[in-house]
Amino acid sequence: VRIDVFFHGGAAGQSDLSGRVVLVIDVLRASTTIATALHNGARAVVPFEGVDEATARARTLDRREVILAGERRMVTVPGFDLGNSPREFTGEVVAGKTILLTTTNGTAAMVAPQGAAEVVIGAFVNYTAVLALLRGAARAGTSLSIVCAGSGGRFTLEDAVCAGRFVRGVSRRGIQPELGDAARVAAMIDRGIGGDVEAMLRACDHGRELIAAGYEADLAACAGVDTHPVVPVLRDRQLVPLAARKRR
Ligand code: MLT
Repeated sequence: VRIDVFFHGGAAGQSDLSGRVVLVIDVLRASTTIATALHNGARAVVPFEGVDEATARARTLDRREVILAGERRMVTVPGFDLGNSPREFTGEVVAGKTILLTTTNGTAAMVAPQGAAEVVIGAFVNYTAVLALLRGAARAGTSLSIVCAGSGGRFTLEDAVCAGRFVRGVSRRGIQPELGDAARVAAMIDRGIGGDVEAMLRACDHGRELIAAGYEADLAACAGVDTHPVVPVLRDRQLVPLAARKRR
């Protein structure tokens, strides 16, 4: 069993993901938003790469059952119901709804993996729940690919720390996976600076951009470990919560 980490969404495209469990991470903020929405009772989140695609799909659906959500340059897309702040996705707003979501980097990374055995979405807010799925897969002999959304094809610290935490979480208590070089580096990064997640989020590039754009409160929401224990998995191009009994 092997664990590979890709430090931006595009990097995974050149790799053979077939038969693997693929974990996609966009801590700031798409993964956190998706876990929050599903934990708060949304029926499904449908990720889209483009704004036009999401808008076109919304036109084909009953608008009373659908929420159109997403950001560009961190701000709500004009005409959309919600942006990409996890704090917007409360139970009152999302329960029973299907959310069509498009974000700059995160949702594109989620629709990209081809041939995977499973695509799962992770962040700090659902860390332990997702870790249980990854450990179960590794124990059963399935290799893991962890895809960091990154930003515009670049490395992002917050996704690397979170990826490293998953690498470290899988690689203990009787599981000794072979680690690719990037997986080793991610684990080192988490060990080095992952101790205070909120401080790390406040210091990283995108965290500082979010503060400047008025989304400072989102950082605390994204830093909460295990606040939204749900496992979003891709089924027929929709992210739905994995039933609790299937997690192990
Ligand atoms: C992205 O997909 O690039 C992020 O989720 C951007 C954001 O903070 O909204």
